[in-house]
Amino acid sequence: MKTRITELLGIEVPVVQGAMARIADASLAGAVSEAGGLGIIACGGAPLSWVEEQVRIARSMTDKPIGANVMLMDPNAAELAKLLADLRVDVVTTGAGSPANFMQMWKDAGIKVVPVVASSALAARMERLGADAVVAEGTEAGGHIGELTTMALVPAVCDAVSIPVIAAGGIADGRGVAAAFALGAEGVQVGTRFLTVEECTIADAYKERVLAAKDADTIVTGRGSGHPVRCLKNKFARTVRKLEGDLAQNGDELEAMYVGSLRRAVEGDVDNGTMMAGQSAALVCERATAAEAIARMMAEAEALGALDLAATASANARRERAGR
Ligand SMILES: Cc1cc2nc3c(=O)[nH]c(=O)nc-3n(C[C@H](O)[C@H](O)[C@H](O)COP(=O)(O)O)c2cc1C
Repeated sequence: MKTRITELLGIEVPVVQGAMARIADASLAGAVSEAGGLGIIACGGAPLSWVEEQVRIARSMTDKPIGANVMLMDPNAAELAKLLADLRVDVVTTGAGSPANFMQMWKDAGIKVVPVVASSALAARMERLGADAVVAEGTEAGGHIGELTTMALVPAVCDAVSIPVIAAGGIADGRGVAAAFALGAEGVQVGTRFLTVEECTIADAYKERVLAAKDADTIVTGRGSGHPVRCLKNKFARTVRKLEGDLAQNGDELEAMYVGSLRRAVEGDVDNGTMMAGQSAALVCERATAAEAIARMMAEAEALGALDLAATASANARRERAGR
């Protein structure tokens, strides 16, 4: 399936594996890239030495493009940005801030820059900065989220920019892929579905919770403090939500609870950790390899006419660029 996204990123299928902090390492990213999608190493909260090692391992697994994700609010974001330029990863996705300070350095290194956005205004700003594409991520997604739904956000972003748009949030099967193309996207970014694939190294207990989740089993914490995060309902999330009812009183306790909470989930403490996952967990009900998951999603999407939808999205974008 060819779209401007497959052309831009040099990949075979328009599926990007979303960065997942403390989860998306070389094992997952290398497998996704080798399967023809774009694997992304999540650098959020990680030391530079770990990032360097993961890029090296991923490159030993595949000679296809590999991406990395920078959370721009991280204290080591500037050093990380420089490291990724030196390593010449193929693609950088960014979240939680503006990549303005690093754009030229990454461009000079031949890196494609793809910010994650949660509004059309931010998408337009990223295009003006020189972004090659954007990920429009709806509030259905796992992890840090914005307010708008994928259904409303993706077409709004497609109307606001002429660079290609990758849809994210709530996409876990071929129906989601086809819907994203119908909205004008030319690629999809998928996180939650990849949590349960064989190459994802999280504890089995976390995978089991994702597999068992129903559509109403996620919860958003952190709205009061301005950093909303979608995760699976568990003891930890319910306690956090209760304490958030009085932030002034419980702020310190909450801060202490958050320390190491994602690590605890990744290591299998499903009661006391933050099990980030999106609403699409309800659609994830199989263990597969990354290659099988991608092949299945694309086969389902093609059966729904996604090839034509993708071609239409690309053709519309080209016509618009040509002013016709
Ligand atoms: C466990 C988890 C961790 C995540 N961590 C990050 C991250 O570090 N950086 C980022 O840009 N997005 C992060 N995300 C968002 C994903 O990259 C992706 O955009 C999102 O999962 C797509 O929506 P979905 O969960 O419905 O597939 C995370 C998502 C999950 C589920």
